[in-house]
Order: sequence, then C-alpha cells, then structure tokens
Amino acid sequence: MSARARFPIFEHTTYANSCSQGALSLDVRRAYEEYLEGWDAHGAEWEHWVERAEAARGAFARLIGAASEEVAVTTSVSQGVSGLVSALPLERGRNRIVISEFEFPTVGQIAHAQELRGAEVVHVRPDPDGRIPLERFEQAIDERTALVCCTAVSYRTGYRLDVSEVARLAHERGALCLADSYQAAGAIPLDVRALGVDVLTAGTVKYLLASAGLGFMFVRSDLHERLLPTQTGWFADEDIFRMDISDYSPAHDARRFDAGTPPVPNIYAGLAGMGIVEEVGVAAIEVHVRGLVDRLLAGLDGLGATVATPRGEGECGPLVCVASTDPRALVDALRDERIVTSSRDANLRISLHLYNVEEDVDRILEALATHRGLLGQHEEI
Ligand SMILES: Cc1ncc(COP(=O)(O)O)c(C=O)c1O
Repeated sequence: MSARARFPIFEHTTYANSCSQGALSLDVRRAYEEYLEGWDAHGAEWEHWVERAEAARGAFARLIGAASEEVAVTTSVSQGVSGLVSALPLERGRNRIVISEFEFPTVGQIAHAQELRGAEVVHVRPDPDGRIPLERFEQAIDERTALVCCTAVSYRTGYRLDVSEVARLAHERGALCLADSYQAAGAIPLDVRALGVDVLTAGTVKYLLASAGLGFMFVRSDLHERLLPTQTGWFADEDIFRMDISDYSPAHDARRFDAGTPPVPNIYAGLAGMGIVEEVGVAAIEVHVRGLVDRLLAGLDGLGATVATPRGEGECGPLVCVASTDPRALVDALRDERIVTSSRDANLRISLHLYNVEEDVDRILEALATHRGLLGQHEEI
C-alpha cells in the first residue's frame, strides 16, 4: 500500500508493533506542527479547537457506523469506561459486572473498583486453546448482570471474539454489553449496529495511527437518558459555556460522557491518523493484513513455531502471538536487527497494519529462524 511512504520509520526499521503504538506518519507530525502554528499565530483558538473536537467526534462515528450524537470524545478508554460504570445504578439484584479474562487491565480494575459500591465481578475464563466459547459467557451472565465487558481482539493473544453473540447473550438477560475494541479499531471494520453492542470504546494510539491521549466511546442513543454518569466534567454539560455551578444538567446525548477540556493536540494528531485509515479504508486494510497474516502463519508453521493465536475462521485479526521461552530476550534480539515487536505473557506479539508489506513478514521470519532457540511451547492462560 502506497501509504507506507508516509511513515519514515520504514526507511530503516521493520515496524510490527501497531498493537502497542501505530507508527508515526508525516501527516501526524504535520498536524502537531499545525496545532503549534495556530496557537502561535492566533493565541487561544478555542472556537477552532472545539470545532476540531467535533470533527473528531464525527470521524469516530464514521469509523463505527454510528451517529455523532452517540459518540463521546474521551482522553482514554479508562475515562470512558469509568464514566459508563459510574452511570450504572448497580442496584440490589442487578449488581454484577461480567468481564472476560482477556480484558485490558483498565477494564478489570474499573470493574473491581465498583466492589466498593456493592458490585460483584464475575470472570469468564478462556479454554486452554485460547478461545472463549460462548457457553462460558452464557454460564456467567444472568438476571443479576448489569454489564458484560468483552474485548473484540485480545491484546494478550490476538484472539478475535464474536462480539455480536456476546451482545445477544447479554441482551437476552437484560444486561448491557460493552466492547473494548482498541485492538480492532482501524484494522477490522466495526459496525455498531451489526455488532448490536450498547457501548463500544477504543483510542487512537494503535491502528488509528495517532498518539496517546485521545479515545472515544459509543453509547447507543436510547440509553442516553437512562445513563447518568456521576463521573463527569464541564464539557459534558448540556450548555458548556453557561458556566453554571448550580446544578448537574448533562448533555442529552453521548456527550454526557465527555469530561474536561478536550485534548486538543491529540485531536489534531487523531484526525490526521484517522484520515489515513479512512483514505485507505478499513475493509481494504483488513484484506491486506489478512494476506500478510496468512503469509506469517505459513512461515511460522515452517519454522515449527507455536502460534498462541487461535486460527479458525474469523478468530484472528492483525495480531499474531508466538510462544517464546524468553519473549523479552526475543523482542530485544529482533530489535538489534531493527525489527520492532513486543511481548505479553509468554508470547512474542507481531502485529501488521496497512503500511506493512510481504518483505516485512519475510524479514521477521528470517530473524525468527536465526533466533529459533527462543521459540517456545504453548502455555495455558
Ligand atoms: C484492549 C485495550 N484496551 C485499552 C487499552 C488502553 O486503555 P487506555 O486508553 O485507558 O489507556 C489498550 C492499550 O494498550 C488496549 O490494548
């Protein structure tokens, strides 16, 4: 894909770590410069900056097939999810939060923090093969469940979950379903209507190709009136510039999950990063990455490597995890050969995106052949 030329890192490095941080593009660098130039030339450009925040809301909405009014602009997934659970009454009889074992730490920690106000947290464990069969969710969700948290693509194993089925199970029992889609957004098409989720959140650090400090949270429109966040801020007010300290009157739409001053520099970067993703198209990115992942998996099989990522139809996205006897040493050894990857648990993580090409995959495979001694056996999660 020609967009590769916009990412200078590929002039000297094979970058396969978008699951941690997307590569820096000329576009994002330019966007930061534009922010600084505007600040320098005009001083406090608040009207323009707020307009940029609304443009980000619109871009997030387009990415997931939602209306702008259903999207909160956040600084992180943590902010969005904290706001969401603060709006759950967790009344007696419906005080359970179900989380999968593949949730990012922030989701698990926020769920457990609710124990302080009477919540019970139920964990859904994967099978030894790294899959979470739907029956596991079915066993965990019942009429006491207020919220089911699932993760579209696991940051630990790359396992891609059937989110729509989890949402269906949650709804059958009267619970809400939240999909943390950070490891999917920008790499896998996301359509909130097809997924049937109530809430979906992600941020711009990874496959949306921007930097830290910007995220979003979709909240289905018919839930807005019902969900009153007690964790809030003035940008969530129905009339931000009335500057009223006499009551709590949040916006009528998902903006009630916004919080304080928008993260303006990150919004500039986010719009630029998402602009590249939009230009190439998420559907095209998925097809491109699928081809690279297939090539990688075939090469890993040839090396006799143990792939921790389930490989059935629809079970794998842009992240492939490979068992290692010493994943940190393997990441370091690859870094010495100018190949950037990362590790989690007992696995090396290789993630591919729109800018990667077959030669990247071949370089990674060659380097893994050299460091074959660091490839390991599958370990149970
Ligand atoms: C699945 C997933 N959720 C959430 C996060 C990060 O959340 P936050 O934006 O709160 O830092 C990450 C990032 O590393 C992630 O991989």
